[in-house]
Amino acid sequence: MGHYLDSVPFSGIIRIRDMMYSVKDPFRLDQGDVSFDAPDTVKAAMRGAIDDNRSHYLQTTGVPRLLELLAEKLRTRNGIPIGDPSEVMVTTGGIHALFIACQALLEPGDEVIIPDPTWPPCAGNVRAAYGVPVPCPLHERLAWRYDLEELASKITPKTRAIYINSPHNPTGGVLRPEDVAAIAALAEQRGLWLFSDEAYEDVIFDEAAHVSPASLAGMYERTISLYTFSKTYAMTGLRLGYLAAADSTLRERMKKVLFYTASNVTSVVQFGGIGALEGSQASVSACRDELRARRDLFYAGLREVAFGTLGGEPPRGAFYAFVRIDPEWRPPNGDRGASLSWAMTEYLISQGRIGCVPGVDFGANGEGYIRFCFARDRRELSGALDSMRALFSSLPARSR
Ligand SMILES: Cc1ncc(COP(=O)(O)O)c(C=O)c1O
Repeated sequence: MGHYLDSVPFSGIIRIRDMMYSVKDPFRLDQGDVSFDAPDTVKAAMRGAIDDNRSHYLQTTGVPRLLELLAEKLRTRNGIPIGDPSEVMVTTGGIHALFIACQALLEPGDEVIIPDPTWPPCAGNVRAAYGVPVPCPLHERLAWRYDLEELASKITPKTRAIYINSPHNPTGGVLRPEDVAAIAALAEQRGLWLFSDEAYEDVIFDEAAHVSPASLAGMYERTISLYTFSKTYAMTGLRLGYLAAADSTLRERMKKVLFYTASNVTSVVQFGGIGALEGSQASVSACRDELRARRDLFYAGLREVAFGTLGGEPPRGAFYAFVRIDPEWRPPNGDRGASLSWAMTEYLISQGRIGCVPGVDFGANGEGYIRFCFARDRRELSGALDSMRALFSSLPARSR
């Protein structure tokens, strides 16, 4: 594994993070983190766990009360036919859930069809398990959904699984119920597994319904469903995720990976998770409403200040603006180099203090786009828009 890891790339987000540290008073629209804090129910439960000296080793797959609550949530909210809480496993965030799932399922050389663009750890985790990520484009003209025939055409005798992520990072695209049904049917016909990354299941706007593929008839048996508390409960730094799978052989393997990488997930954080699920869910809908308002504020601002240089339709889910860069745009020195999206990113960070991520960092199909996170507070979003206004209004007309 040692040398092999040299071939597994880091995400460009690391480069961006380093660039942002050199900027004074930056607008941090680069990171996928919310400006909200974890609800009081989480904080009180964690304080209680500390006071009760819950600082010892725990059951590997999670404390029983948390597993019970998660099983109930997956049954009632996601419609997944969980038989027993032992079918659920708690992980150190959603990223760890994906790592565990890839390690447990994939054989060297197995292909996994992933979206292009995609959240970079998706390809990284497939590679880290000696798998081969096979990108399949999401299309802006389809509101960042698949062309389903194109998706089917990516299947080869080596394909082991399809990874889907809806709502989607970085585009905010949401698969329609009929897309999920068609992908599920494809998986069933071709004997494939599905990784269903539902990290943004609660960040979905405009009545778009979230469908968990494992809720469809016969699909729980071939789906590994992946979740996180990070986005729903603003717990990004606390690192709490979970997964569910029906297959007991796979679960035994996943339990081994979990044990050898974490022994158990941090005790106090697991009690925080219990607080989140037992307490009021009002913060979840309040955050969603606020995120919808921020999305609208940001897109209205972009339309006004970016003079057509940056454009696109507001997303139906997640909290990212994945916007098209006018292909004619050039930075003031006229040199856009090999990548338009990196040129725009460097320009916005160095000249405007505006954090963002180049679309190409999410896959070749993301070139020509740039991602902003609009989950930052309204002041930060407005500050970034003001800065953008100053930048773009000072450009010569042909460069806008
Ligand atoms: C698509 C997707 N899946 C999973 C995650 C996992 O988040 P975490 O590891 O914070 O739980 C993220 C985080 O940004 C994400 O964007």
